Amino acid sequence: MSAIFHRTTAHAYPLAVRGEGAYLFDAAGRRYLDASGGAAVSCLGHGDQEVVAAVAAQAAQLAYAHTSFFSSAPAEALAELLVAQAPPPLARAIFVSSGSEAVEAAIKLARQFHVERGEPARTLLIARRQSYAGNTLGALAAGGNPARRALYGPLLMDVALIAPCYAYREQRPDETPAAYGLRAADELEAAIQAAGPGRVMAFVAETVAGATLGCAPPTPGYLRRVREICDRHGVLLILDEVMCGMGRTGSLWAFEQEGVTPDIVTIAKGLGAGYGPIGALLCSQQIYATIAAGTGALAHGHTYMGHPVACAAALAVQHAIQERGLLARVRALGAGLEARLRDAFGDHPHVGDIRGRGLFWALELVADRAERPAQGPGPGPRPDLLPDGRHDRRGARRPRAAGAALHPRRIAARRAGGEAAPRAWGGVGRERGGVAGQLTAKGAKAGQPDGINREEREEREGRTAEGGVLRLPRSAWLDSAARSS
Ligand SMILES: Cc1ncc(COP(=O)(O)O)c(C=O)c1O
Repeated sequence: MSAIFHRTTAHAYPLAVRGEGAYLFDAAGRRYLDASGGAAVSCLGHGDQEVVAAVAAQAAQLAYAHTSFFSSAPAEALAELLVAQAPPPLARAIFVSSGSEAVEAAIKLARQFHVERGEPARTLLIARRQSYAGNTLGALAAGGNPARRALYGPLLMDVALIAPCYAYREQRPDETPAAYGLRAADELEAAIQAAGPGRVMAFVAETVAGATLGCAPPTPGYLRRVREICDRHGVLLILDEVMCGMGRTGSLWAFEQEGVTPDIVTIAKGLGAGYGPIGALLCSQQIYATIAAGTGALAHGHTYMGHPVACAAALAVQHAIQERGLLARVRALGAGLEARLRDAFGDHPHVGDIRGRGLFWALELVADRAERPAQGPGPGPRPDLLPDGRHDRRGARRPRAAGAALHPRRIAARRAGGEAAPRAWGGVGRERGGVAGQLTAKGAKAGQPDGINREEREEREGRTAEGGVLRLPRSAWLDSAARSS
């Protein structure tokens, strides 16, 4: 009997007692292949003796000194290393203890920057649907995962949500990926215009969308257009690389592959590889200089920020990534993984899309790959029956015969308000998406006449407030609490 309030109450968790390489071992001696490194965390594997030694040495030397009064050698060295590896104008680092804290700090830093430069009316944050930015209230508001937000909706600050860059479901058959990307990015322009001049403080997006969209890389030119729009309107660009950063996509920063640099980037997971709880944000010289010339003080802090032992762990991890040539290894192994995934699942009737970068890959599971993906709540008009597109054996789109109808269950699901969303899983473990994707996938399998099984019906009904009480279904709990990464 455990005294811990675990992530789920009805589950007896095995006791993990040891980690070695890609394996975890429990108290009963069972061995588990930790293929995703937890939630995309353990990028060096378990039991890396160099990192262990660095952590032990730092704990013995200096475990903690409050950052209001002291800096520490590992924090200074880690900041120097990260800034040296980041393109200008990224110039300063702030260390926190998790990805959520990094996103919270980024939002607050954006606000402080605008206030200190004399634009206090910039209070609105724009983010994307089907994104995940963390589970603290600010970070949760900055994400678009309906299940995780459901319980806390009344507590969340207003954030404008625009479409994700999600070519599999939202690129029209008559568009190139680049044209689709520009159309998706232009939703940002429209949202900024709608908010009014001088109202938007920042746009936050995952460079390669992870937990809620399943390793969806941006289409070519999407982020460059986003960057242009932000610059034109004085809006800060925050790229959330908590999951996709620190080498997972084959470059240290995922944004390097997009030809853009954000004003603020958030990182965590692969920064410390699980050897210490650490997150960070890097900000531009302009942001730093504005605050240095103004109040001269960061209006945000935590007791454990810049923790010396966590920084020592991250420093050793980052040295290992560099010295062992791991970025090149991610690219080489990633190419092999992609080839094998396409080989194994390219023809699978329930795999609609295979996507990712580096060692960050997802399969999008669908009821029937021959069906056109239901259109999500993407940019532009969303008629029920658009000219259709099927997918060829390797996942590329090809036009469907004119006039071909959508599957009736999909139409019913859409009319009922269900949104297209993937049940995607891949290198980061399985995550639940929105409703419609599950309606057909699970309902059809379970042989339900309307394609909707009990759990799914509960989930949909549970999201509506009845008599002022939000009845949250069990599946949403699992999603919002237990599976939070
Ligand atoms: C993109 C992104 N941002 C933020 C977070 C939150 O990080 P943490 O769980 O460390 O608070 C996550 C976690 O999965 C994430 O994927």
